[in-house]
Amino acid sequence: MAPQIAPSILSADFAHLAEDVARVADSADWVHVDVMDNHFVPNLTLGLPVVQALLEHSALPLDCHLMIEDPDRWAPEYAEVGAKSVTIHAEAAKAPIRTLRAIRAAGARAGLGVNPATPVDGFEDLLGEIDMLLLMTVEPGFGGQKFLDVVLPKVRRARELIRGRDLPVWLQVDGGVSAETIERCAEAGADVFVAGSAVYGAADPAEAVRRLRAQADE
Ligand code: DX5
Ligand code: ZN
Repeated sequence: MAPQIAPSILSADFAHLAEDVARVADSADWVHVDVMDNHFVPNLTLGLPVVQALLEHSALPLDCHLMIEDPDRWAPEYAEVGAKSVTIHAEAAKAPIRTLRAIRAAGARAGLGVNPATPVDGFEDLLGEIDMLLLMTVEPGFGGQKFLDVVLPKVRRARELIRGRDLPVWLQVDGGVSAETIERCAEAGADVFVAGSAVYGAADPAEAVRRLRAQADE
């Protein structure tokens, strides 16, 4: 699949979200929305009401990344209000199969996220239940952290597992993805790239997205 770029609004201006989303509308594929509850991660961002408001203002589909303690309770609602992709964390979900199926039943792509230290091998049998596997390349919670090279072998391994099952599962990397690291991620097999500070920290976010895409496509 051609690489897809998902700018993370965690690094945008929270007082001007609609404007910041519009700045990448012509260059990006998704808008990545980091939902944090100060329990699963030590940070608090936004929830369902803000996602609903953003849906009214975004030409791009929303990719909601739920870093919350109780995704089983909340994930289907994000899909029901109109998010096109909803990712739950393997470390948090108590009934991941039921929740992933509920996301799909509500018409969204179902994603499973894993933290840097969580192996993917245990989730091989769930690959048929998901549309995207999200591999965190920083510890979740904050933008602007340093990319963890230690995760790259897992990106390769995940790509092998997906290929081995011949499934159309997208492989997303999230955290520290930038001009310096995106080529390594693409070479290891990632095809969806979340970038927060590398996009919204740039003088021209749309141009930053185009550059990242070109690098991932090399
Ligand atoms: C971190 C979030 C990321 C974050 C990435 O927990 O899941 O989506 O916004 O930010 P950068 O690209 O700055 O590392
Ligand atoms: Zn994220």
